[in-house]
Amino acid sequence: MDRLVVSAATGPYSVVIGNGTIDALATEMSAARLGARRLLISSPRVWDFHGPRFRKAGADRTPILIEDGERYKNLNSVARVLDALVKAEADRSTVIIAVGGGVIGDVVGFAAATYLRGVPVVHVPTTLLAQVDSAIGGKTGVNHPLGKNLIGAFHAPSLVVADPVVLETLPRREFRAGLYEVIKYGVIAEPALLGRMRDTLPAIFNRDGDAVAPLVAASCRIKAAVVSADERESGLRRTLNFGHTVGHALEAATKYKRFRHGEAIGYGMLAALAIGVSRGITPKSLGEEVDALITQLGPLPSVADISAKDVLAAIKRDKKVVSGTLHFIAAADRGKTVEVTDLSDKEIAAAVKKIGLRT
Ligand code: NAD
Ligand code: GLY
Repeated sequence: MDRLVVSAATGPYSVVIGNGTIDALATEMSAARLGARRLLISSPRVWDFHGPRFRKAGADRTPILIEDGERYKNLNSVARVLDALVKAEADRSTVIIAVGGGVIGDVVGFAAATYLRGVPVVHVPTTLLAQVDSAIGGKTGVNHPLGKNLIGAFHAPSLVVADPVVLETLPRREFRAGLYEVIKYGVIAEPALLGRMRDTLPAIFNRDGDAVAPLVAASCRIKAAVVSADERESGLRRTLNFGHTVGHALEAATKYKRFRHGEAIGYGMLAALAIGVSRGITPKSLGEEVDALITQLGPLPSVADISAKDVLAAIKRDKKVVSGTLHFIAAADRGKTVEVTDLSDKEIAAAVKKIGLRT
């Protein structure tokens, strides 16, 4: 079992990672002095698969279940959670346990941030993407029809328990979607991750615990270090947005229906690498290496019918635009990034056409 401690403005919290850690959830919560009243929130699908394992967590009633998937990441879902919390008479000492992928984590985390002006939340991420990324760092929120994650709050969890065993039931496409975020960590912080993925891909796809758990642990370590240093994204945390400028725009341009989040980030990284290479910032060999690894993971949904114009419009509404300036993360050398603030529409258009979009 690996244990990391993340620094947050509201205090440190543990991230416990390892096969079988869900069985220790109740003990971990008690060790973190988390209130006796515990409400579980999950999705029907996740609960069908893994609900029985949570009985030991000491939740005092049946779970609140809401739908997941990107199209449910909206204010209606938040309202459903808030209604359920009111009906359950949750108070400030009630701890909410979010069990699910990134959508459950973001929606429930946002509800926890706003209910009674903030109640504690514990994340038990059940997708690879949520384990390696979304459960750590306190970003919560939902999409607006015009833009990704435009509504939200920072609300650090009180505990994160990432158990790779639950990934065994994850559909292959969802599992693969999480691998793109692992590639991101390889590009921005730990180049050895790229080689490890390439060399052990069959074992990773087989969900071999010895191959998957170290990937989760390494990714959590990088994310924990970054958000501990810059919780509110004033500098270092922006590096985690590598691939997200075009990725988020692709999601918005297709109304959150076509891509798994990770898949959009896969395309976004290819576009970011193309921009970096054409500017002479990114080594061509790094671009080729990542391109080959993304190809090795398998086919991505087509982008041939998406217009570069729509993606450009979505980028302008992105929250990475601050005071009219887009903060774009490019890969510098292996494990290094650089922030670009003078990216032109022409460069973006050329890059998205390179990855297959139409004019
Ligand atoms: P998701 O939550 O929609 O889950 C994907 C699918 O997997 C769902 O159908 C779900 O029911 C199913 N599922 C979940 N766990 C399962 C399991 N163990 N077995 C079988 N099926 C399971 O998608 P996601 O990819 O986990 O999360 C994507 C979201 O995360 C995006 O909205 C993205 O913006 C967000 N995100 C947030 C942060 C952050 O810092 N808050 C970071 C990265 C991504
Ligand atoms: N996934 C980007 C972040 O957490 O900042």
